[in-house]
Amino acid sequence: MNKTFPKGFLWGGAIAANQAEGAWNIDGKGLSVADVATFKANLSLDDYDGHVGVTTKSVSEAMADKTDTIYPKRRGIDFYHHYKEDIALFAEMGFKTLRVSIAWSRIFPTGEELEPNEDGLRFYDNVFHELKRYGIEPIVTLSHYEMPLHLSVAYNGWVNRDVIDHFVRFSDVCFNRYKGLVKYWLTFNEIDSINRHPFTTAGIIPDQCPPGKEEELVYQALHHQFVASALVTKSCHEIIPGSQVGCMLTKLTTYPHTCKPEDVEVALKKNLHNYFYADVQVFGEYPALTLRMFENKGIQLHFEEGDLDILRHNPVDFVSFSYYMSLTESAEEGLEKAAGNTIMGVKNPYLPATDWGWQIDPLGLKISLLELYDRYKKPLLIVENGMGAVDQVESDGTIHDSYRIDYFKAHFRQMKAAVDEGVELLGYTSWGPIDIVSAGTSQMSKRYGFIYVDQDDEGNGTLERRRKDSFYWYQQVIETNGASLFETTPK
Ligand code: BG6
Repeated sequence: MNKTFPKGFLWGGAIAANQAEGAWNIDGKGLSVADVATFKANLSLDDYDGHVGVTTKSVSEAMADKTDTIYPKRRGIDFYHHYKEDIALFAEMGFKTLRVSIAWSRIFPTGEELEPNEDGLRFYDNVFHELKRYGIEPIVTLSHYEMPLHLSVAYNGWVNRDVIDHFVRFSDVCFNRYKGLVKYWLTFNEIDSINRHPFTTAGIIPDQCPPGKEEELVYQALHHQFVASALVTKSCHEIIPGSQVGCMLTKLTTYPHTCKPEDVEVALKKNLHNYFYADVQVFGEYPALTLRMFENKGIQLHFEEGDLDILRHNPVDFVSFSYYMSLTESAEEGLEKAAGNTIMGVKNPYLPATDWGWQIDPLGLKISLLELYDRYKKPLLIVENGMGAVDQVESDGTIHDSYRIDYFKAHFRQMKAAVDEGVELLGYTSWGPIDIVSAGTSQMSKRYGFIYVDQDDEGNGTLERRRKDSFYWYQQVIETNGASLFETTPK
């Protein structure tokens, strides 16, 4: 069997504006929902939603606070001023691609303006030109947990249908501006996460929803995102001939805890629910079981005339997803739990876990690839994967992160096995190739990078960038297009 990945495989990394850029209040940028996210120390298993506690009061207090003290995403890693240095390091690793997002509130500070902020647009011009200099292909997410805060406060976010128009205006500005520079676009990061953290994903402030109506409004907001996604898929294809637009799913692969049919049923339902989000974006229609679930729960969604046609006629071109861990589910109550990416499951006795308790399952990545490819028959792109860990800087400044290398090596081998079994995989971007602020906890100490950033949870540090051992290891993987993964003695 050939030891290398397919020719042209897009090796790279992924970051999001709100976790990396910093520069939260300069060059005309407006506040985004990320700018009011507070620092949280390691979350307890019982309270594992990293986005808990958002209220009208907490948002207005955050708006009044002009510092970044308890709002680490306001500082990020200052990619805004370091992008040249960071891109040079990515190029040194041999990146073929970099996934970034565009901060909507940098382009439309409140979301309601009719004309874009030129300074914001210029920043991304600079980033894309810098990438081009090194032959690095951008993959751009339009919405990655950073909608303008004003749209959240004044509209309760995506609950209000008018937000579709604001998003389409923003997206069209991006397509027209960057059409010569960006071919690959993603609409909504982890669109399914609206159910787990509605504020971060869709600007919904729970106490603004009438009691008992929160779930219905979350699905209504999701419907608006589906329609918006389909509309901008259409305009992207019109404005940028040859462009490719993908959906983005949190792949929450769930195993039954035992082969007891009751456990199998629970796991199946979790998986079907996870697929529902991508099903709409790929097949262009709501699954029958989901529509029936709405009916059974008394959830009444308002579909406008034409919505279903818009979905039907504008499916995505490829399916992208994040994969960090697998989950286990049981019909039984009271079993020991384990944490995952903003979700909990039953502890899987066969798997080790990261410092944050996320269970490490490389074979689960292969299983996910096979499932997704078989179901959707569309090219796949892994746009997030990696392990958050505490790194130790040695006295000579080196960082020996062999645990990270082990994690990636095992996942890459399974990725290759899936490709060898017929999966069409366009590329792979590791999450946080450079340490950035955590989405869930806003910790800096939860590090994913091949590149270390000298900054602690409180924002102290020089912001100096340092190559970890994994930096050189990934460089080798990319240089050999994966062949080095199968060498017994590393070069
Ligand atoms: C994904 C998000 O869910 O998980 C990223 O798209 C996030 O934004 C990543 O950073 C890892 O989660 P965390 O909470 O460890 O940063």
